[in-house]
Amino acid sequence: MYSVPAIAIRQLLVSGGSTMAAAEVARQMSEGARNLSLSGHVGFDSMPDQLVNKSVCQGFCFNILCVGETGLGKSTLMDTLFNTRFEGDPAAHNQPGVHIKSNNYELQESNVRLKLSIVNSVGFGDQINKEESYKSIVEFIDAQFEAYLQEELKIKRTLHNYHDSRIHVCLYFIAPTGHSLKSLDLVTMKKLDSKVNIIPIIAKADSISKNELQKFKIKIMSELVSNGVQIYQFPTDDETVAEINGTMNAHLPFAVVGSTEEIKIGNKMMKARQYPWGTVQVENESHCDFVKLREMLIRVNMEDLREQTHTRHYELYRRCKLEEMGFKDTDPDNKPFSLQETYEAKRNEFLGELQKKEEEMRQMFVMRVKEKESELKEAEKELHDKFDRLKKLHQDEKKKLEDKKKSLDDEINAFKQRKTAAELLQSQAQQSGSQQTLKREKERKNFF
Ligand code: GTP
Ligand code: MG
Repeated sequence: MYSVPAIAIRQLLVSGGSTMAAAEVARQMSEGARNLSLSGHVGFDSMPDQLVNKSVCQGFCFNILCVGETGLGKSTLMDTLFNTRFEGDPAAHNQPGVHIKSNNYELQESNVRLKLSIVNSVGFGDQINKEESYKSIVEFIDAQFEAYLQEELKIKRTLHNYHDSRIHVCLYFIAPTGHSLKSLDLVTMKKLDSKVNIIPIIAKADSISKNELQKFKIKIMSELVSNGVQIYQFPTDDETVAEINGTMNAHLPFAVVGSTEEIKIGNKMMKARQYPWGTVQVENESHCDFVKLREMLIRVNMEDLREQTHTRHYELYRRCKLEEMGFKDTDPDNKPFSLQETYEAKRNEFLGELQKKEEEMRQMFVMRVKEKESELKEAEKELHDKFDRLKKLHQDEKKKLEDKKKSLDDEINAFKQRKTAAELLQSQAQQSGSQQTLKREKERKNFF
């Protein structure tokens, strides 16, 4: 059997299938179930071990979102936290907007496998106009929720081997200015606080003095409170971790230093940053809060962060989305309303609307046909009138032409008559002329 720390068992019991068992026990107890003592070993006390075995087999996934201005030491801190060097080319920071870059890694510690996603907001704070800087981050978080919701709503779900990309924690890197939060920090955290567990951290804390750091921490917390920004609180409802979590809540925001460089201090190799005036030990609690962050983020509350993501942030997203789609748990009289009933009601409403639309379209069609018919009739009448007018015009023209033809014929006839008479006269005149010529010729001959 695995030796599992009490915290891990607690976390496993709270999460996943064990919540169902707890609910069942609560139900039975409320129904007055009898308490029996066993007279021998049965074996269900191995339930926690079974859960641990199953979880170890499946492996875990954890997704971290790093938000903070360029060069605040985000990548260095991730390397330091997980004691490895995550490869990845440094991103260009001269883009017009913020874009999200996600890298997935598989890590193994003892026999526990962890699928780790480190999501970076590249270019955050690089633009002159920073108004929209939070948008792509919010969109990314929502997109992961949406993908999970779509998987959940499928008929054939494969949630057991679904790669959960929902963001479990957002490490918000605050610049070590020693003054106050920038408006970009406040706006971004406010936009994110209902969607993700935010752990604010003061980056590069070695660049700020001890006194200033305390004042800076107080200032940051008071600004967050006065602006209504909800940051993640380490849970104090379980007595095994209540004390440590309660103490750590008072240390927020953690002031961290990151380094992958190892330096020999005494006999030990330690992660540190070396300066001409001294050495900052990353894992020395009097130098910075790195150990506190690692303890809280990874060793104590990793499962709670996963659980809060599912039960609080995802639940909120899911509820809003389903309500947007018209699903409700109760009817207007506050009576329980099942999904089936909602579906039926929605379907009927939809069918009713469809029928109404169909009727409207039918009526519109009939009206259009009528309009077109009357338009066509009008056009036909106009055509008939035009035809009649043209026909009459044609007839008049024809009659005029016939009259003209008749008068011309008459003229031609008269002309012909006149011509014939003239020809007759002309021939008569010619005849009488030739007779006179002959007579004169005869007379002249006689004269000679
Ligand atoms: P981008 O990914 O480009 O936004 O940068 P980043 O936020 O990932 O910063 P990165 O880890 O690349 O570190 C930038 C510089 O800061 C490097 O020179 C680091 O050595 C240095 N640095 C990282 N952590 C610390 C720290 O805690 N203190 C100090 N003083 N310097 C640090
Ligand atoms: Mg980086």
